[in-house]
Amino acid sequence: MGTSFTLNGEPVTVAADGNSTLLLALRNELGLQGTRFGCGAEDCGACTVLIDGHLHYSCGQFVEDTAGKHVETVEGLRGPIADALRTAFFEAGAGQCRYCLSGIFVTAHDLLMRNRQPARAEIRAALSRNLCRCGAHGSILRGVEKAATLLADMDR
Ligand code: FES
Ligand code: FES
Repeated sequence: MGTSFTLNGEPVTVAADGNSTLLLALRNELGLQGTRFGCGAEDCGACTVLIDGHLHYSCGQFVEDTAGKHVETVEGLRGPIADALRTAFFEAGAGQCRYCLSGIFVTAHDLLMRNRQPARAEIRAALSRNLCRCGAHGSILRGVEKAATLLADMDR
């Protein structure tokens, strides 16, 4: 049996049982380690993915409930916004240990898809669902702002 869904554009089936979370299926069964296990309690955002285009904490999602849905992880994000974020995070030295960055990347990508030129307050609001235990929020904010600047340059 198992649960079938689309993962980063490809069909997959996992054998995970009814109590298993999408996070564990992604990491242990499908080998995608980019989605992080932080708190496991829907508090930190390290496990953030997109399900049918909406942000979700994958640690709080039963894998069975993803049947027939479209799941995107950090590994599947491609295109100008993802490229701008990668460059900007590198140039801004975003983060410290970087454990939180995958989830933040997914959240920031979602924000920039909806709003390519967010104000700092809008970035803060979007990232309020993602914690950074290193307290590296300043560099992460600068990274997202830098990504927006790169996108603005591209759009000129
Ligand atoms: S690991 Fe899912 S919110 Fe923390
Ligand atoms: S950079 Fe370490 S948790 Fe955010």
